[in-house]
Amino acid sequence: MIDTKLLPTFVAVYNVLLLCASCIRPDAQPVPWDKVTPTVVNDTIIWHSGSEGEIHTYRTPSIFVTPNGTLIALSGARKYSSSDVDRKFLAIRRSEDKGKTWLPTEFLVDDGYEQGVLFPGTLFADFDSNTLFVMFIHCQLKCKVPALLLINSTDDGVTWGQPRSISPRSNGSRSFHPGPGYGIRKRLEPHKGRFVVCAHGRPQDRPRGITLLLSDDGAKTWREGAFVPDGPCREDPEEKFWPGECQAVELADGSLLVMTRNRGRCSCSCKAFMRSHDGGQTLPLHDFFFARALIEPTCQSGLLYHRGVLFFSGPNSTTGRYNMTLKWSYDDGTTWEGELPIWNEMAGYSVLAEDPTDDRHLYLIYEKGVKSSVDFVAVTKIQLFNNIAFNGK
Ligand SMILES: *[C@@H]1O[C@H](CO)[C@@H](O)[C@H](O)[C@H]1NC(C)=O
Ligand SMILES: *[C@@H]1O[C@H](CO)[C@@H](O)[C@H](O)[C@H]1NC(C)=O
Ligand SMILES: *[C@@H]1O[C@H](CO)[C@@H](O)[C@H](O)[C@H]1NC(C)=O
Ligand SMILES: *[C@@H]1O[C@H](CO)[C@@H](O)[C@H](O)[C@H]1NC(C)=O
Ligand SMILES: *[C@@H]1O[C@H](CO)[C@@H](O)[C@H](O)[C@H]1NC(C)=O
Ligand SMILES: *[C@@H]1O[C@H](CO)[C@@H](O)[C@H](O)[C@H]1NC(C)=O
Repeated sequence: MIDTKLLPTFVAVYNVLLLCASCIRPDAQPVPWDKVTPTVVNDTIIWHSGSEGEIHTYRTPSIFVTPNGTLIALSGARKYSSSDVDRKFLAIRRSEDKGKTWLPTEFLVDDGYEQGVLFPGTLFADFDSNTLFVMFIHCQLKCKVPALLLINSTDDGVTWGQPRSISPRSNGSRSFHPGPGYGIRKRLEPHKGRFVVCAHGRPQDRPRGITLLLSDDGAKTWREGAFVPDGPCREDPEEKFWPGECQAVELADGSLLVMTRNRGRCSCSCKAFMRSHDGGQTLPLHDFFFARALIEPTCQSGLLYHRGVLFFSGPNSTTGRYNMTLKWSYDDGTTWEGELPIWNEMAGYSVLAEDPTDDRHLYLIYEKGVKSSVDFVAVTKIQLFNNIAFNGK
């Protein structure tokens, strides 16, 4: 006989199970959505350049949602000017209520007072240990061998430890600039459980290109995987293939799709894609393609693979940083079926994030403005279905 006093407990447990049937588990392959109908729920400015403290410009934002469903926004807070080489703080803000309110800005790292300095950064998480990470480059322009640093938090991003150097044991001929964007942990074979971060190179005096940084021991040690150097453009001998800021995602077959800024406008003023079938060790040339629907003024952009749909964010222009637009594809980036305007004035860098506790919304963080593309940093909450079209299970 069931003790009726226990019934409310059973009901509560059952409800939790029901809710979590739609959670995104890092180790499971989620059922793909048939069709999405994205709309904007909210668009909130979280950083104003020039009006908060002494920070001149907030730029290069990233966003990540923790295993607990907390939103973490990250930005490079440029202290005295908008210049790339200016001194910076690594700034974060957290939202514990899905973007309704944001806690005050905290400065995780201060690069001191030398020029040529730190750049944020890539966010990722170890869902097994509920640990958050930020990987970033320090002393990129001044030091002979810039340091690749990793900082972590085990309390949902409230406090962070000391940075630790994870520079791969290379001879210092390359530099790795991770982000803006997020790192992934492979959910599928090959190399299930591997962390993958895409980094681009910067100094002119070194071979430039993009590198996949790999860790097979829970983010403790890192090594270089695929490297794609700057080179001639096969499709268009007049142009160069110069990959830039990049984002990797894992597709449903366990391969990695890597999107990069096409700095040399090889083949088109649009994004270039590469694919790895061996967990990021190689990015073979025959798997390159250009997504002509994803035009760019050349700019970093957001990419996310969420329940079978590939989402992209970026300025919808070949000439300037404006008109932030969300686009989506149901066939891994071959065709782009939908688009949603987000902001029809100035806009630049952007990053997309999914929420492991709510798979019906996405978050977009982007450089937004009126006078320039870096007046503000804003977070847009995107609902993936209107009530009628919802087809989820
Ligand atoms: C939208 O953002 C505003 C702040 O800009 C906030 O007051 C409001 O609660 C948000 N609404 C939702 C549904 O998140
Ligand atoms: C995550 O949320 C749970 C339940 O609210 C809480 O007990 C736990 O401390 C949180 N974890 C972190 C890392 O904050
Ligand atoms: C997390 O940071 C602490 C230092 O604050 C360090 O001791 C630890 O090794 C780090 N863990 C990982 C996996 O990087
Ligand atoms: C460093 O490594 C790169 C790539 O492996 C190689 O091309 C270069 O010659 C090496 N430089 C030195 C100084 O050993
Ligand atoms: C994006 O740009 C293309 C090319 O200019 C244009 O055809 C399309 O309508 C634009 N999309 C939006 C949402 O404005
Ligand atoms: C942004 O897109 C809208 C709609 O497609 C277009 O009318 C407008 O001219 C674009 N903005 C700029 C600055 O080009």
